[in-house]
Amino acid sequence: MILRRVWRSNCTRRPFSSFPYDRYPLDAPGCNVPRNIAERVGTNLHRQPQHPLGILQRQILEFWQPHGFDLYDQLSPIVSTTNNFDALRIPSDHVSRSPSDTYYLNADTVLRTHTSAHQHELLRAGHHRFLVSGDVYRRDEIDRSHYPIFHQMEGVKLFAPHEQNSIESELKESLEQLAEHLFGPDITKRWIDTYFPFTEPSFELEILFEGEWLEVLGCGVIHPEVLEKTGRGDEMGYAFGLGLERLAMVLFQIPDIRLFWTHDERFHRQFASGEIVQFEPYSKFPPCYKDISFWLESAFHVNDLNEIVRDVAGDLVERVWLMDDFVHPKTGKTSHCYRIAYRSMDRSLTNEEIDDLQEIVRNRVVDDLGVILR
Ligand code: PHE
Repeated sequence: MILRRVWRSNCTRRPFSSFPYDRYPLDAPGCNVPRNIAERVGTNLHRQPQHPLGILQRQILEFWQPHGFDLYDQLSPIVSTTNNFDALRIPSDHVSRSPSDTYYLNADTVLRTHTSAHQHELLRAGHHRFLVSGDVYRRDEIDRSHYPIFHQMEGVKLFAPHEQNSIESELKESLEQLAEHLFGPDITKRWIDTYFPFTEPSFELEILFEGEWLEVLGCGVIHPEVLEKTGRGDEMGYAFGLGLERLAMVLFQIPDIRLFWTHDERFHRQFASGEIVQFEPYSKFPPCYKDISFWLESAFHVNDLNEIVRDVAGDLVERVWLMDDFVHPKTGKTSHCYRIAYRSMDRSLTNEEIDDLQEIVRNRVVDDLGVILR
């Protein structure tokens, strides 16, 4: 009973969801989207003018709009696997397609894993300078900089034939200017060559922040086959994708990605539309650590454990990490021990309620993942 009460009290302030439950029942075979993820669809933090993500989106828009880019910030995050993967030359056996990485609604519909999922439809519709911002979804590890929902802003520009020799240099110059527009003229940055199936050549821009290089965007010259698939094989252009949380965590000094989702007034009253200010951390509530150890019986992916923990504990989970990986010398069986840090952004937790959550997690890993608890 206590559990129910705890869980409900977490749910009461859940934001509006526009998820089409009728069209995509969450219990349908092949659907791996938990309710707590579906409930967030339609929150659109990037469209809230007082929210750090909304403030940042405006700043980026301010930079691009004078160059004639149109913004699409309300496209549904429910997309086809064709648009999310195939149209972008992502191979059919690529890891990012695996259900341990991506949320599937059914065999050919996913929650977009990147805003590049809209390149195909917008190019096909004839657009040639556009931005797309929105929520993207990835099953991933749990820590202060990873959250299964984050936000990206995509940009695409096609060029007239006589301009085509300047694509790569214009791309790099514009993005360097954008970095300066956001971080000031003194920011230290560098380009790294990389690989994306949908751009060639491909680059990442890193900025130096507190002594560490931080990747803030991916970009490149759009692969000719991507354009061919849209019926525009005779054109050329560039594309880039920015991670909004990454940039906002640096710009506003926000130490934990879950804060973007908090309802705490102490967070929200610090931000106002149009202003980049340094976040003043308020006192954190104490964490509560619980360990779970089990023998692996068959194929096991840590993201499946992460998903169960999130499903049970929602935003009360701060981090999940492997403490011990042990192979029994006689049986050859593998045992994992994970530590789960529970901490609320909004209140103190009682040991009793966390014990209850941990008990559900323990039962679920046995039932859903077929492991044997130690
Ligand atoms: N979609 C890529 C990602 O999510 C970023 C990207 C966008 C790279 C456009 C190149 C061009 O990592």
